[in-house]
Amino acid sequence: MTRVSVTVDGVSYQDEVEPRLLLVHYLRERLGKVGTVVGCDTSNCGACTVLLDGRSVKSCSVLAVQVTDRTITTIEGLAAEDGTLHPVQQAFHDNHALQCGFCTPGMVLAACDLLSENADPSEDEIREGIEGNLCRCTGYQNIVRAVQAAASEGRASSASTGATTGVTS
Ligand code: FES
Ligand code: FES
Repeated sequence: MTRVSVTVDGVSYQDEVEPRLLLVHYLRERLGKVGTVVGCDTSNCGACTVLLDGRSVKSCSVLAVQVTDRTITTIEGLAAEDGTLHPVQQAFHDNHALQCGFCTPGMVLAACDLLSENADPSEDEIREGIEGNLCRCTGYQNIVRAVQAAASEGRASSASTGATTGVTS
């Protein structure tokens, strides 16, 4: 067993884990973060995407022991404590960017990563930014619209606050 010490959605955890335990299974089975879902377990679908130190990663392609001393945000840590949705979550809701919802946690987090790097992405850049995430319901058009809306919202709030970063919660 190996010790892992990690912050997930603002809470610190210390656990003993099997060295082969995948991060996605650690999140779901040890921490109960079942909003992080498994679509393929082979790094293809992106459903298991989380933010690792702010960058999107497929948590089925990372070992739990690799995240020690690092910070993870799952879909369950995006909304504010009072339940207010993160702007990207709200944009997905407003633009009907989910059907069955299975891909949605990964799509939202991939979009957060994209917008943190590029606050004003073109449609092509959005499609490229989420290309590692598959939607089996094929709802890509509204997903792209949602990311465009979140980007627009982020620019508007940055302009009103004088901030220079992309969308934040
Ligand atoms: S479950 Fe991780 S990429 Fe599909
Ligand atoms: S909404 Fe069903 S997989 Fe994307």
